[in-house]
Amino acid sequence: MSKYQVDNRGYYGPFGGAYIPEMLYPNVEELEQQYLQIMNDPSFKAEFEELLKDYVGRPSPLYHAKRLSDRYGATIFLKREDLNHTGAHKINNTIGQILLAQRLGKKRIIAETGAGQHGVATATVCALKGLECVVYMGAIDIERQAPNVARMKMMGATVVAATSGSQTLKDATNEALRDWINNPVDTHYIIGSVVGPHPYPDMVARFQSIISAETRKQLLEKTGQETPDIVMACVGGGSNAAGMFYNFVDEEAVRLIAVEAAGHGVNSGETAATTALGKEGVLHGSRSILMQTADGQVVEPYSISAGLDYPGIGPQHAWLFKSGRGEYVSITDDEAMQAGLRLTQLEGIIPAIESSHALAYLEKMTFKGDETVVICLSGRGDKDLDNYMKYFNL
Ligand SMILES: Cc1ncc(COP(=O)(O)O)c(C=O)c1O
Repeated sequence: MSKYQVDNRGYYGPFGGAYIPEMLYPNVEELEQQYLQIMNDPSFKAEFEELLKDYVGRPSPLYHAKRLSDRYGATIFLKREDLNHTGAHKINNTIGQILLAQRLGKKRIIAETGAGQHGVATATVCALKGLECVVYMGAIDIERQAPNVARMKMMGATVVAATSGSQTLKDATNEALRDWINNPVDTHYIIGSVVGPHPYPDMVARFQSIISAETRKQLLEKTGQETPDIVMACVGGGSNAAGMFYNFVDEEAVRLIAVEAAGHGVNSGETAATTALGKEGVLHGSRSILMQTADGQVVEPYSISAGLDYPGIGPQHAWLFKSGRGEYVSITDDEAMQAGLRLTQLEGIIPAIESSHALAYLEKMTFKGDETVVICLSGRGDKDLDNYMKYFNL
């Protein structure tokens, strides 16, 4: 068994577990008992694969970005999760979890969302399956991701504003957990990243592992080799990175680079650079690394990108960081915005601001010239056009 994957107690090294109030115990226990069995069931697999193919549009292309490659002196591929239905990697996980929820007999779905991509992906699969959907979203995120709020409402979802704390993703997650405690029997909580109590981090990583499974096949076709030298992804909670790393994590020669949001700078007081500043603690049901004060209060995070504006990271990432297997770095708002514009003008692809963080790190790397790099382009920039326009005075 891989030392970087979850163990049979639900831990990654010292991180993970299920730190939950007693009232959530039956829900989490039910999931824990059943998720692997359901996911391994042939009828589940067949339905999951069919929807990924015909509804999401997978496999997503692995695109050799030639002008980007020329700029940096490496062979750079973009894994085009931005081309998925609904515009990001989030749909891989929501398709998986809605099929699971149906098999658990659940009738009502709740979710939290930051950038709105996970909310849209959840509202989408609820429309697809005719299930009731309630999405919790920070009041600030509702403002900065207005097109996604409209999309969720159009799909028939109820969007509830979280008005506590920094009014962003952490607060939306708190509200969703509260709802789940109050509705334990008929409701499934579709968590949108590799966070939360066990088995969520493992379950979400498995649903997202399609990203690296496809990448291996596509690389083999294009380069004659299944493994690149470097894989890179942005990290909010860490689900696109977990999917991108999943099938490479045991090949120690492959560098895993995870890019967090530094906001206005790691030491500016307005940041979401969790590994740079965080300490071990418990957030949203699992033990991980999070930004906290000396007496353990969660520090309000900040990033221009709603999807990375989170004070923690999933427990597997905490372990990859602590064990030294992964390289965890951070990129400021300004660096990300410039990288977004650069990709647009070099390749004609407008990335989500989240993905722009991963792209921006290329500026800080040096290459020998023969490296193959795969970057997870986690989402498209349509939802961020307003932000790009304001930032660049377009
Ligand atoms: C396009 C995009 N990329 C990345 C993220 C960050 O999430 P995660 O770290 O779980 O991949 C989000 C979250 O909303 C997103 O919308």
